[in-house]
Amino acid sequence: MQWVEDVDAVRRLVAETRAQQHTLGLVPTMGALHRGHVALLHALRPEVDRLVLSIFVNPTQFGPREDFAQYPRALASDRAWAEAAHVDAVFCPATSVMYPIPPSTFVQVEGIDQVLEGAVRPTHFRGVATVVSKLLNLWTPDVIALGQKDAQQVVVVRRMLQELLWPTRLVVVPTVREPDGLALSSRNVYLSPAERQAAVVLHRSLDAALQAVRRGERDGARVAAELAAAIQAEPLAQLDYAVVVDAATLAPVTRLAGRVLVAVAARFGTTRLLDNCCLAVDEDDVRTVLA
Ligand code: PAJ
Repeated sequence: MQWVEDVDAVRRLVAETRAQQHTLGLVPTMGALHRGHVALLHALRPEVDRLVLSIFVNPTQFGPREDFAQYPRALASDRAWAEAAHVDAVFCPATSVMYPIPPSTFVQVEGIDQVLEGAVRPTHFRGVATVVSKLLNLWTPDVIALGQKDAQQVVVVRRMLQELLWPTRLVVVPTVREPDGLALSSRNVYLSPAERQAAVVLHRSLDAALQAVRRGERDGARVAAELAAAIQAEPLAQLDYAVVVDAATLAPVTRLAGRVLVAVAARFGTTRLLDNCCLAVDEDDVRTVLA
């Protein structure tokens, strides 16, 4: 497994890969890897000749009062996960490599970057779209993988790929969960034992919503109210949002039909956690699908 830190080394590796007519897959992460990230590696491994994992805690996607400085860093265990997943190269650039001068060039997917997560974190998706663009420019991957866990990120990156005419394919990987249903997240380490127990309410609320839709509920506001009520019943949870939106436009849906995203966010102490599920709904059927 190669360890790559600078642009010249990336370009050499990419040139070599292309000269051999090999395909290349990229899994972008911010490190502190867990089984959720590993699922992305496993999803791409059989699809490509060369598998690259990037680890970069991207400053431009953190707001001024967010946890950039405290974000967990765990390079030694990241390296072990990468070896075990048969990654060919780990790209672990310094901030000065990705941002050689203070950035004035950004990629912004307007509109869908200002709702849900974007309403609370107005520059977050601009940072994500910008850094993913840089990674695509450097590595020119045939395929990248993103997790369903961050469904809005999937929607934003997919729109960006389409609008910027990138030929890169996007693979979406199902959310990996703890046995009690809590979605794996690098931020789960911040939770106290009591908050950790309480956090399972996110998954439970989605389950309750899914059951309601299965029973025939098609009113978006009523499903959203059911979600919110489930979360508000947990004293340690502070609800940020509980919504039912169109899976492509992220606009609220009044009547559930087609592909909808059911998304929740709540704070447990100072830790903000997300969860979601995507549903394909018609009059007498509902299936869970990927974003
Ligand atoms: P990070 O939070 O490290 O997540 C990297 C990838 O892992 C994302 O695509 C995320 O959706 C996926 N992931 C996280 N937890 C998961 C889980 N429990 N199950 C399945 N997939 C999971 O998302 C980012 O980093 C950054 O925004 C990035 C795309 C790297 C740009 O900086």
